[in-house]
Amino acid sequence: MSRVAEILAKKISSKKARIAIIGQGYVGLPLANAFASHGFRVTGIDLDARKISMIQKGVSYIEDISSASLTKLVKQKRLFASCSYEPLRDSDVVIVCVPTPLNRAKDPDISFIVSATEAILQHLHPGQLIILESTTYPGTTEEVILPTLEKSRLKVGHDFFLCFSPERIDPGNPNFHTQNIPKVVGGVTPQCAKLAASLYEKITTSVLKVSSCRTAEMSKLLENTFRIVNIGLINELARAASSLKVNIWEVIEAAKTKPFGFMPFYPGPGIGGHCIGVDPIYLSWKAKISGFDLHFIELARRLNSEMPHHVVSQAVYTLNQYAHKAISRSKVMLLGVSYKKDVSDIRESPALDILQALQGLGAKIAYHDPYVPQIQNDSLSLKSSPLSPKILKEQDLVILTTDHTCFAYRSIVKHAHLIYDTRNALKHFKEPHIMRL
Ligand SMILES: NC(=O)c1ccc[n+]([C@@H]2O[C@H](COP(=O)([O-])OP(=O)(O)OC[C@H]3O[C@@H](n4cnc5c(N)ncnc54)[C@H](O)[C@@H]3O)[C@@H](O)[C@H]2O)c1
Repeated sequence: MSRVAEILAKKISSKKARIAIIGQGYVGLPLANAFASHGFRVTGIDLDARKISMIQKGVSYIEDISSASLTKLVKQKRLFASCSYEPLRDSDVVIVCVPTPLNRAKDPDISFIVSATEAILQHLHPGQLIILESTTYPGTTEEVILPTLEKSRLKVGHDFFLCFSPERIDPGNPNFHTQNIPKVVGGVTPQCAKLAASLYEKITTSVLKVSSCRTAEMSKLLENTFRIVNIGLINELARAASSLKVNIWEVIEAAKTKPFGFMPFYPGPGIGGHCIGVDPIYLSWKAKISGFDLHFIELARRLNSEMPHHVVSQAVYTLNQYAHKAISRSKVMLLGVSYKKDVSDIRESPALDILQALQGLGAKIAYHDPYVPQIQNDSLSLKSSPLSPKILKEQDLVILTTDHTCFAYRSIVKHAHLIYDTRNALKHFKEPHIMRL
């Protein structure tokens, strides 16, 4: 072990290592909160001045993190926040949690990783551990980050340490959080992996070291490819089941009683967020460069992206069949617009596509979502409407798009004339005015 590695290992072990986390979004803020709560001094860095100011005031903007926790950590001088990269100068560990979206051509856009790496290079010094957590294609850490950091003439594995450790957080999940989700770590050298593993062992119950950064990068993509493919499969089966006059939800409940070899996935109005629909594309893009077409990913992507259109056509059919109304003369309200339950994230949410398509067909659209006070984009400008019995009664159709736990389902069923439930949230209600995906 090099002398600098030894010093860094001691700092990690005594929690004296100073940590900087670049990117304070859904991933970075919970991670900063976790390290600071476990006794480290952490600085959250973000280009978004609003987020930085909120952290400094101890105000959380992520549902899973309480303002009380941030306030306590800020007061104890364990959590700091900055819009500048200056704190990297004094940091022993730098963790990168910046976005990895797709560009307009639907190819990976790693520009945020590139700019964060340039910033790290300006402050790179011996004894620093750099960890990338952003989801990305296999090879990013060694092909993009390493050559940039080596411009410093410092040697990886000797002077500084570089790893990839995928973030696996599931916002809104009350059972799993940073501390109890096992961490996977791959290092450019075994020493790199060892140092990163010793760091994560301070905040998580279990850490698995894998043989390379590429393995760690691909393990995250396997997880989300597994999800997109299985969701695509169940969405396709759901559509087939309805024409076979079978209730797909009941089929899944029956199949999942098998104690081995089956894992339930559920149909829905489409996939959203910045993970499941995006991450597998990182894998198929990179595989294509190596001469492989990943057919499963492309098929699943297509099947899932058809779901919002399917919901709209079912809405048109339901109104016609049960209310004898044309969509162009109907009032339609969506319940829940975030891409999944109990979060405020509307990025790539299928509810936005559904609202837009209904609006295009001339329907009078409205939505209610306690997590999303307004929607403002190129084609939609809406405020969340209150959810009173009167407003429910005024709707020709209510589409349940996100199954938030806080919804008063009994009242919704009581007051709405016609409901199309895309999440099986009303499975315990047998009323005839409820249609299901
Ligand atoms: N959200 C999830 O559930 C989740 C789960 C696992 C993995 N991931 C992955 O983690 C990464 C981050 O996702 P997220 O949901 O936290 O994104 P996010 O958009 O919520 O947060 C990213 C933050 O990074 C900041 N940022 C961008 N470029 C920066 C730069 N150069 N310097 C400083 N700050 C910068 C942005 O202002 C933003 O606040 C992505 O790769 C994502 O795929 C996300």
